[in-house]
Amino acid sequence: MKKIGVALLGLGTVGGGTYRILVNNGKNIAERDGVQIDIRHIIELDVNKAVALGADLSVVSQNINDVINDPDTQIVAEFFGGIEPARTFLIKCLLAGKSIVTANKELFSKYWPELEAAAKKGKAGLYFEASCVGGVPIIRTLTQSMQGNNILSLKGIVNGTTNYILSEMSDEGLDYSDVLKEAQRLGYAEANPTADVDGFDSMYKLSILSSLAFHKKVPISQIYREGISNINKLDIEFGKKFGYTLKLLAIAKQNNGKIEARVHPAFIPSDHPLASVKGSFNAVFIQGDNVGDIMLYGRGAGALPTGSAIVSDIVFAAKQTRHQYTSFRNVDSVKSSDFNKNFLCHYYIRMNVKDETGVLAKIAAAFAKHNVSIDMMQQIGCDGGATIIFLTHETPENNLNSAISSINKLPCLNSVDAIIRVEK
Ligand code: HSE
Repeated sequence: MKKIGVALLGLGTVGGGTYRILVNNGKNIAERDGVQIDIRHIIELDVNKAVALGADLSVVSQNINDVINDPDTQIVAEFFGGIEPARTFLIKCLLAGKSIVTANKELFSKYWPELEAAAKKGKAGLYFEASCVGGVPIIRTLTQSMQGNNILSLKGIVNGTTNYILSEMSDEGLDYSDVLKEAQRLGYAEANPTADVDGFDSMYKLSILSSLAFHKKVPISQIYREGISNINKLDIEFGKKFGYTLKLLAIAKQNNGKIEARVHPAFIPSDHPLASVKGSFNAVFIQGDNVGDIMLYGRGAGALPTGSAIVSDIVFAAKQTRHQYTSFRNVDSVKSSDFNKNFLCHYYIRMNVKDETGVLAKIAAAFAKHNVSIDMMQQIGCDGGATIIFLTHETPENNLNSAISSINKLPCLNSVDAIIRVEK
């Protein structure tokens, strides 16, 4: 039986979940995979966490050099999160020939080239299934199960916190700020929710997933990002009336050799499979040119779901005789011209205008001047000005922005209150 020494860096939520899975499933893994996993080190400042898990305290230390200098530790699973000290520790481990398993999407999306260079130098492996969509096996699907396809697009709900907030706003008719407070009280949202609600977490994941999908590095600098903190429950309600559900989507497409990658709130038809993904669940919808549409669904966070992906990577890494690296040139210095920023989208626009003769004609003329074609228009009440909702046909982003600039200059306009993309 192959015996593999493992170090766990941190015993927080996911580190603790991983420890429990390794202890509870160790016998099964040995029988099924022929790998005996030996937890040789736990690096953790708070010994109480190890005590609570019933861990062998003789393996707990605060010194990363205990791991680096141990020839019998082959795999290091990192749970610190963030950039430092994770980056420095992982580079040292990789250079010392130890394979890395991590859920750290921020580190990975920002420093993947550096980590990969160190891995190649140390002939070590770099495994990150848990970095995207928690327990859902999306990375292995993209790298090991889609070889017969060119991936055309990838569209996903990859952040549970924002999906929980939007689901509650939609189902319970609550305001964003009230749901956020409740999500923080329940421990779903962080005290500082920026990474989730402003779309950074989704952007990190999209950078990793789209690079793997298109075999081309998609750095975070090339990803458009917009979060959900300005979403008004009114628009969720109006969207429902038009047959749409609002989600924070991570979208990547490849057209005519150009990649577009974007994270933003979007209306999707309420009968699209992604619309039924509720609460803190995640899902990714992938279009391959041969397989057609597939959708992976499951828990994107949590101790055991993310621990499940970490353990899968530990076993996978343990069984490799030669580690594989990315299929593309893994550098951040990409050509901007390889990326499309002038996205083609349908739009939902809510504005408030003065209730005067000829107002609609002036707004319609501004849309027409910039080649934005209106699909549908509805006026909702005339209380202190008229609220009007426009749905546009597919239009390039730049045209829409020019039209809105023109509309903003019209004296008959009170305010443009919402602009939300629609993904059909
Ligand atoms: N904070 C993330 C989420 C989980 O809410 O989905 C880890 O990426």
